[in-house]
Amino acid sequence: MHTRSDPDAHDEELDAAVAAVREYGDLRPEMALILGSGLGALAEAASDTTVVEGPDIPGYPASTVEGHQGRLIFGVLEGTRVVFVQGRVHLYEGYPVQKLTMPVRLLHALGAERMVVTNSAGGINRTFQPGTLMFITGHLNMTYASPGVGSGVAPRPVGVDAEATRHRPYYDATWTDRAEEVALNLGVGARRGVYAWTLGPSYETPAEVRALERLGADAVGMSTVPEVIQAQMLGMDVVGLSTITNVAAGLADGELDHDEVLKVGQRVRGDLMDLVRGIVRVAEG
Ligand code: HPA
Repeated sequence: MHTRSDPDAHDEELDAAVAAVREYGDLRPEMALILGSGLGALAEAASDTTVVEGPDIPGYPASTVEGHQGRLIFGVLEGTRVVFVQGRVHLYEGYPVQKLTMPVRLLHALGAERMVVTNSAGGINRTFQPGTLMFITGHLNMTYASPGVGSGVAPRPVGVDAEATRHRPYYDATWTDRAEEVALNLGVGARRGVYAWTLGPSYETPAEVRALERLGADAVGMSTVPEVIQAQMLGMDVVGLSTITNVAAGLADGELDHDEVLKVGQRVRGDLMDLVRGIVRVAEG
């Protein structure tokens, strides 16, 4: 039984999940790739793949939005042992945040020390056009949910500087610098900025977007931050990348439209896939 503030509490559910994955073979990923929708083809580009279906893993969260179960695809990409997380779950689906960060704990337990995370986001920075790629350099947690809260196990360490930037930043600066160089070499213009995580599932109101702008957000979306908080708690290095699929609500004429968001996502998909491959390549051994 876990007790509050017991930093050494053992997670039996996680042990069972690790054992279930190991049934498939000696899978020891170095890097986790949590990619927004539309980047499935990148998993197809990996070699030596092993697919593990979410329902085969005890405690693994099932996706409720996209109509398919979550799964993990282990393989080799750019010479690195990677694992793709497909069918990411969101806070608005009703899961407690500890549940939606379970895949990160699992992949870390299997060996992953690094994580690349991508998403679609609304652009708040007025110089961002739809199609802009943005490296995430910081975030605003507008849900105030955190995988450390209410888990029955104290996050390690308790009560540190919330951002803990002096110890371990959420987004690895060296890796992000290298990733930016990759983008330059590919001729893909990428910006940097702050990502605000909101609950959703609807897009923001224009008033909320104006408020987020004043708070310093460059982009807004409904994912990524919980996984990043979890990864940082585990000491993993992270690169985060947003695709700005639309101008955030109220900053341009017209209504926000999910189909438009998907269309822009498709347009930049090729660049994004090349960039993610490059980001995998330039991770330090
Ligand atoms: N807001 C929140 N999430 C999003 C948006 C947005 O404008 N675009 C894509 N994901």
